[in-house]
Amino acid sequence: MSFSVTSGETLAIVGASGSGKSTLLGLLAGLDLPTTGTVKLNGQDLFQLDEDQRAAQRGRHVGFVFQSFQLVGHLSALENVMLPLELRGETAGVRERAADMLARVGLSGRLSHYPRTLSGGEQQRVALARAFVARPDILFADEPTGSLDTATGEAVIALMFELNRDAGSTLVLVTHDRSVAARCGRILTIEAGRVASDEWMTAPV
Ligand SMILES: Nc1ncnc2c1ncn2[C@@H]1O[C@H](COP(=O)(O)OP(=O)(O)OP(=O)(O)O)[C@@H](O)[C@H]1O
Ligand SMILES: [Mg+2]
Repeated sequence: MSFSVTSGETLAIVGASGSGKSTLLGLLAGLDLPTTGTVKLNGQDLFQLDEDQRAAQRGRHVGFVFQSFQLVGHLSALENVMLPLELRGETAGVRERAADMLARVGLSGRLSHYPRTLSGGEQQRVALARAFVARPDILFADEPTGSLDTATGEAVIALMFELNRDAGSTLVLVTHDRSVAARCGRILTIEAGRVASDEWMTAPV
């Protein structure tokens, strides 16, 4: 497959279970290595970089919400969300910004909880807060509302589009939810590891 995503775009990736959506997302973020092919982020070929350089690029530009959340088990919810800011070397208001982001996903009452003491939906919201907190240039989210009830899912989606609008963050969302996909500017449908269709809902920028 070959496609490009423009800065500020909102792209939904849809397709059947096992079609390769999570694999694609991992490659796009430079988390997985392809056998062949290239991925460019801001013009930089991710796979020409070594592991540390790739991690540094991710730290500066990328937010990622894993399908399986991947929270750090020995860190509290608050510490998990502080982590991306600390990794960027930021020191000003780190705790406050992390707490504010957790409040925005409805978790003010869970700051000191460890992941194992949180429900699935709560863990997903911590993962979202961690991905949003540094206002990334591009946010990759793998079924970000998969574990959430309708109202909480709606609030999280609203937050993602707010990030897109206010911070200009590019959104790349994997979703099984047609109504979420329909709110994106573009829908890429994957079938058995290939692009089956690439539809723009609005004119490309
Ligand atoms: N580490 C791995 N080693 C070998 N095969 C894998 C690995 N991870 C995934 N696969 C296979 O690659 C295919 C695509 O998996 P992927 O997780 O990308 O699917 P998906 O579209 O995200 O599905 P879902 O909607 O269920 O999350 C699947 O057939 C899966 O079994
Ligand atoms: Mg998946």
